Amino acid sequence: MAVQHDASLMEKIVSLCKRRGFIFPSSEIYGGLNGVWDYGPLGAELKRNLKDHWWRSMTQLRDDVVGMDGAILMNRAVWKASGHEKTFSDPLVDCKTCKGRFREDQLDTSQCKMKPSKTPRTCGGELSPPRQFNLMLKTTIGAMEDDSNATYLRPETAQAIFVQFKSVLEVARKKIPFGIAQIGKAFRNEINPRNYTFRSREFEQMELEFFVKPGTGQEWLEYWKEERIKWYTEIGIPREKIHVHEVPDKDRAFYSQGTYDLEYAFPFGVQELEGVAYRTDYDLKQHQEHSGKSLEYFDEETKQKYIPHVVEPSAGVDRTVLALLCEAYREEEVPDEKGKQETRIVMRFSPRIAPVKVGVFPLLKNKPELVKKTGEVANLLRPHMAIFYDESGAIGRRYRRQDEVGTPFGVTIDFETLEGPQKETVTLRHRDSMKQERIPIAGLVTRLSAAIR
Ligand code: GAP
Repeated sequence: MAVQHDASLMEKIVSLCKRRGFIFPSSEIYGGLNGVWDYGPLGAELKRNLKDHWWRSMTQLRDDVVGMDGAILMNRAVWKASGHEKTFSDPLVDCKTCKGRFREDQLDTSQCKMKPSKTPRTCGGELSPPRQFNLMLKTTIGAMEDDSNATYLRPETAQAIFVQFKSVLEVARKKIPFGIAQIGKAFRNEINPRNYTFRSREFEQMELEFFVKPGTGQEWLEYWKEERIKWYTEIGIPREKIHVHEVPDKDRAFYSQGTYDLEYAFPFGVQELEGVAYRTDYDLKQHQEHSGKSLEYFDEETKQKYIPHVVEPSAGVDRTVLALLCEAYREEEVPDEKGKQETRIVMRFSPRIAPVKVGVFPLLKNKPELVKKTGEVANLLRPHMAIFYDESGAIGRRYRRQDEVGTPFGVTIDFETLEGPQKETVTLRHRDSMKQERIPIAGLVTRLSAAIR
């Protein structure tokens, strides 16, 4: 597929994220930490809404999935059994000339440190032969910093689910097919973190391990691929922007009997948001063998015992947030308050995931009666949704400021709210159409709650 890389669009999005408090470089006052990011007030809300929506659709709205929240630190034996200690690595190449370190599979898209317009293959530097570099971040537990106390920060959340499979099954009283969902941090010592938050060293995953009867894995793989595509459209990513890449045999993990990558057309190219993989019985088998504990399932109906097979939709929170930011960003030519054309930046987030749902404004800030009434309306809405109260500047400017962070609704309290035939009504402004309507305060909560669900 031809990909249009839009570096300037990406720069604008990064700048807006910093300016308005979606995302900041971690430890910024000390020069940052490569591949690690902090989410500011708006970013934290956006991320939380996204995770809540995933959690709700996976657990609350389904009878066949339960949740869990595993620890980041696990017994090192887990990572030996899962194969991560031996094989979770990328091929690393050193440049002896510029001292840069690059992933061998990204040599053609990386920049030489001394000649940024060239790649490490074309700059003329001398490259070392590739060596395998393990991506897990090692740490030690306890007072002794020797290898016997070493373990890793988890590079995926999935293993906690596999090793607790039996315990969860017992308490949840579920029958196969059933799944365990989890959201949590994961860590990878990426050689080249890049593309903003897309490839980070610390990130979050939303993973479902769905346990099925042997022989039914392919059907469930198809099912979950479709479910997951539907989910992305629910949060505002149009179907045509999601590319489904069927990973060929040669590129799949050896234990996988089918994997789809769901990809999004980012400004820097079409890249993976989520992998939906049929992992067979590999993980449970490995843990059964290494732990010596049975991870078999007893099927009451057929009286058969078997190790369940697993289909895993594994999504990245940070990548999805980034896709939402890219998808939402628009520059539009619109008339200002005096009818003159101006460019507005608007984040067209779906109301469901928008960080702030409604801006609440007194028309004028120097009129105590307006400010008082606005405070009352704000307090009415506050228990039901995230609001932002703003009284400073012309009303048009305040609308624009909320447009720029994607707030779908604005509620303005003016003199008509206080007296006359329109008493106890407010102006409701819609972000995308910029249309305004008059609605009673008494109907606000119902109206807005329905619109953001
Ligand atoms: N349990 C399977 C697993 O971890 P993966 O394809 O390595 O599979 C799943 O990761 C998802 O996690 C990816 O599709 C991506 O969204 C996210 N992810 C992986 N590495 C990441 C990184 N370095 N930075 C941000 N997100 C990452």
